[in-house]
Amino acid sequence: MRRKVIAGNWKMNMLPNEAIEYIQNFENLVKDTKNEVILCVPYIDLFYCLMNVQGTNIKIGAQNMHWEDNGAYTGEISPKMLKSIGVEYVIIGHSERRSYYAETDETVNKKVKSAFENDLKPIVCVGETLEQRERGEAEKIITTQIRLDLEGLTKEQVKNTIIAYEPIWAIGTGKTATSEDANNAIKAIRNEILKIYGEDVANSVIIQYGGSVKSSNAKELFATSDIDGGLVGGASLNPIEFSKIVNYDK
Ligand code: PGA
Repeated sequence: MRRKVIAGNWKMNMLPNEAIEYIQNFENLVKDTKNEVILCVPYIDLFYCLMNVQGTNIKIGAQNMHWEDNGAYTGEISPKMLKSIGVEYVIIGHSERRSYYAETDETVNKKVKSAFENDLKPIVCVGETLEQRERGEAEKIITTQIRLDLEGLTKEQVKNTIIAYEPIWAIGTGKTATSEDANNAIKAIRNEILKIYGEDVANSVIIQYGGSVKSSNAKELFATSDIDGGLVGGASLNPIEFSKIVNYDK
């Protein structure tokens, strides 16, 4: 059976002192879970968070990175830099990065490859817009994204990728996909992976759902056949609420 992976995405929220206080409150609340717990935090908080989660079961991730190791890219952070301070995970291709910062499947693919070269575990986001869903194109859009974003990876690398299916219309809107729709979309992603990388990879790869996950809907979503946990934005900003999502199975 696949493990459940629950990741918080703080986006552009939390000052270092708030991050430290959060972890102090949060660590006790999730210490008994068998689910994997990740906090993806702003760059400025990474080091403080890494220091404060030592000896706990909480893992730390970044929310983006460049694909080059270094160079003249003002304002960017490289995978090598993330690795050097002990970051383990990195979100790649979040829809907010795709729509506000012109990320494409091509740059996402470069970043995913570079993450593996630097021994970082990518959380790769895919998802359709409302218009695409209404036109009946959701499945085609997300399977194409998956194919392009993971192109050129080895089977082993795909197995170690976390995929987050995040329908754009459900992010930050309070509108959650029904557990059935989310599960079906995730099944379509798993089926695409099966076609390209084979059954073993398809059965192992972790595919999360993201988009207005909260403690009141987490159980229904995560109890489905194919949803392996969640990528949680707004509801991860409160340690009590997020701990309830992590402990959805208690
Ligand atoms: P949300 O965000 O939970 O606030 O909808 C999810 C995400 O963007 O990862």
